[in-house]
Amino acid sequence: MKKGDINPFGFDGEIFRFLDQTKLPLEEVYVETGHYERIAEAIERLEVRGAPAIGVCAAYALALALKENDDEELFLRAAERLKRTRPTAVNLFWAIDKMISHYIPGAGDNFHRLKITAEEIHLHEVNNCARIAQHGSALIKSPSNVITHCNTGVLAVAGTGTALGVIKQAFTEGKIKHVYVDETRPLYQGSRLTAFELERAGIPFSVNVDSAAAVIISQGKADLVITGADRIASNGDSANKIGTFNLSVLCKQFNIPFYIAAPTTTIDRSLRAGKEIIIEERDASELRRHRGAEIFPAHYPVYNPAFDVTPAENITAIITEEGVFKYPYDFS
Ligand code: MRU
Repeated sequence: MKKGDINPFGFDGEIFRFLDQTKLPLEEVYVETGHYERIAEAIERLEVRGAPAIGVCAAYALALALKENDDEELFLRAAERLKRTRPTAVNLFWAIDKMISHYIPGAGDNFHRLKITAEEIHLHEVNNCARIAQHGSALIKSPSNVITHCNTGVLAVAGTGTALGVIKQAFTEGKIKHVYVDETRPLYQGSRLTAFELERAGIPFSVNVDSAAAVIISQGKADLVITGADRIASNGDSANKIGTFNLSVLCKQFNIPFYIAAPTTTIDRSLRAGKEIIIEERDASELRRHRGAEIFPAHYPVYNPAFDVTPAENITAIITEEGVFKYPYDFS
């Protein structure tokens, strides 16, 4: 690792260590744990987050569960617990099911084997990012100004990132002039995490409120929008952080490209269309309070969906490690 590199999480065989993303960018606090339950809590609280990252963290959590006790019942209970942490990102379920498929009852070496499986899942996502970055950068013309939403970088994947990986790669090729960072209400993954990564990478950026995107695009300040995804149905409908759908509509209105960058582990081939994707609804306190301060009274009702689904026809291309796919999509 080079100085300044961000190391979001890792497992040394004894201790799982993660950077608490809820405290970024004001504080860089690492948490260490030897228990899978603490990792499940970290996923629920978004201390670790981002679709591929929560899959990798859940895989390490399951390896840890076996270190405590190589017992099939306990292992499967841990898997069920981890599956209940967050419903939308399919990478979580993909990684847990892969871990389960490598468990051999009575084998005696399950901890060792599943630790290697978790490392393989981790490396797989890192390698996917590198290929997504290459494929995606080839689509970007020079000079480009880009809008992105939420956080899709090293913090969300462990590799260079998906959408943010494309932006970083295009920047190194001299094609990116400026990145407009949607703050990404209510938890500010854009203004806290993406801005943090862009500053570390030396890429020019500014933060804007999510609702400024229409003005930015209508003023001709953005040439394209690129985001990640949490689950992509067979027809290409893509769930991502709430507000992504709005961006795709704006891109259509102003005739600029809207790209999704995601590994194929984000594709859920069991779902035909986006309406089948379960959208996580999060606690009202995320809107009601901010860093301990009350924004509005507790009795105001709240609706807080964490994701939305962008219809496939609004997506100019889906960039994966296997290449670039264009509408109409068929991932079945
Ligand atoms: O709720 P979060 O912060 O986990 O949401 C993350 C996103 O929506 C990302 O855009 C998505 O996971 C893609 S990450 C490469």
